[in-house]
Amino acid sequence: MDLPPCDYIPEAYQGPSKEELLARRKAVLNPGIFLLYKDPFYPVQGYMQYLWDETGKRYLDAFGGICTVSVGHCHPEVTAAITAQAGMIQHAPTCYLHPAVVEFAESLVSTFPDPLKRVYFVNSGSEANDLAILMARLFTDHHEVISLRNCYHGGNAVGMSLTGHHTWKYPVPPMPGFQHAKAPHPIWGPIRYDTPGAGRDYAAEIQQLIQFGTSGKIAAFIAEPMQGVGGTVPYPSDYLEHAYAHVRAAGGVCIADEVQTGFGRTGTHFWGFENYGVTPDIVVMAKSIGNGFPLAAVVTTDEIAAKMSERIHFNTFGGDPLAMVAGKATLDVMLRDDTMGHCKLIGDRLITGLKSLQSRFPIIADVRGSGLILGVEFVIDRQPATAFTADFFERCKDHGLIVGKGGLFGSVIRIKPPMCLTEADADFLLGVFAEVLAELS
Ligand SMILES: Cc1ncc(COP(=O)(O)O)c(C=O)c1O
Repeated sequence: MDLPPCDYIPEAYQGPSKEELLARRKAVLNPGIFLLYKDPFYPVQGYMQYLWDETGKRYLDAFGGICTVSVGHCHPEVTAAITAQAGMIQHAPTCYLHPAVVEFAESLVSTFPDPLKRVYFVNSGSEANDLAILMARLFTDHHEVISLRNCYHGGNAVGMSLTGHHTWKYPVPPMPGFQHAKAPHPIWGPIRYDTPGAGRDYAAEIQQLIQFGTSGKIAAFIAEPMQGVGGTVPYPSDYLEHAYAHVRAAGGVCIADEVQTGFGRTGTHFWGFENYGVTPDIVVMAKSIGNGFPLAAVVTTDEIAAKMSERIHFNTFGGDPLAMVAGKATLDVMLRDDTMGHCKLIGDRLITGLKSLQSRFPIIADVRGSGLILGVEFVIDRQPATAFTADFFERCKDHGLIVGKGGLFGSVIRIKPPMCLTEADADFLLGVFAEVLAELS
C-alpha cells in the first residue's frame, strides 16, 4: 500500500546516525524512559500528518506524538507565530502585563460553556491535574479523591496517585486520600454497554466507594471523558451524569481530564464531557492545546478561582508568551478550519473501514471511540492479544504507518493522528491494517 502523494520535500538529514544516537542517549539519559519499536523510530522532520526518518523514509503519523500534535507537525501558522514571538520577547512572567496570555485566555474560554470561564496556565498535563486536585480540596474543604481504574492522569506525585494502572506507578507509599472506582469497559467490564441502565449501574460503583471507602464527604471525582492510555475507552452515554450526581451529593467537585479528548478530537463536541451532557467544575487540558508546544491549562469557575486567590498562585512558565502564541495560533486554526468537523468526517470513514475489517478478521474484538480518537482491541480466546498487538504495531511501522498501543495489557491499537488526516490517508491506514492482518493471520 503506497502513501498518498505529498509535495513537501524534507531537508537531507545530517545529524548523528541511529547507532551513534542510541549509544549516546543510553550513556546520558534517564534509563527509565522507554523506546517504542524493536528498531527504534528516529523521526527527524515532520510536516502536517507526515514524518520522515533519518533515512528520508516517509510515514503517516496516526498517533501525533502521543495524541499531542493537533493541527499538524510544523503547521505553518503555528510555526510563524512562535518564530515571530521568539524575536520580540521570549519570556515575560504573568506578574508583568503581556497581551498574549490575555488573548489566548479569551479565545480558550470562548470554547467553554458557562460557568467555566477562568483559566490557569501551566506546562504539562500532570501539573494541571495537580493544580485541579488542589483547587478541589481547597474549595470543598474535603480531602478524598476518586479516580477510575484503568485511567492515566500523569507522572508526578498527584498524577501517579490518580492513575489506575500499576505499570505507571512506582512502588513508593501512595499519597493519602486517593481511591479508584471500578470503571466501565466494553470488553472486560462486568456490564455490557447495551444493557439498559448500564451507565447508572457502573456509576453505582462510585456511590459505593464513597459510602464504604471514604468519610462520606469527598473533594473530587476525576475522569477522562474517554480513557486514553487505558486503550480508548468511552463510557455508556449516561455514566458521567449519574457519576457526577453521586459525587456532588457527597460534596465533591467533578473534574474532566481532557488532555486527550479535548479540542474537538472526538468530532462531535469541542470538549469530551459535552458528549455526555454534563458540565464539570474543573477541566484539565494539555497535549493538543499547543500542537506539541509544552503547554497545559486548567479551566474552572469564578467561585473555585475565588477560593484559590486566598493565596498567591504563581507558575514561572505558565502564561509564557511563546507558549501563549503557540496555543492561540493552534486554536485559531482549529476554529477557522473546523478541525472538529474534519475529525468527524475522517473518523467516521475510519470507523466504517475498521468495522468492515472486524467482520473479516475476528481477532478484532472491538472498534471504539469517535472522531480521531479511536481504538481497535485484539482478543484471542477471550484473552487480550498482547503479543499479536505488539507484532501488529511493529509491522505497521514497516509499512510506513505510525500508530499507538495501549490498554493495561497492550492489546489496543490507538489511532490519534494530527487532525489534518485526509481521506486518502485514512484509506492508506485501512489498507495497511488489512495487509498486516492478512500477514499475521
Ligand atoms: C489523560 C491524561 N492526563 C494527563 C496526562 C499527563 O500529561 P503530561 O504527560 O503532559 O504530564 C496524560 C499524558 O499522557 C494523559 O493522557
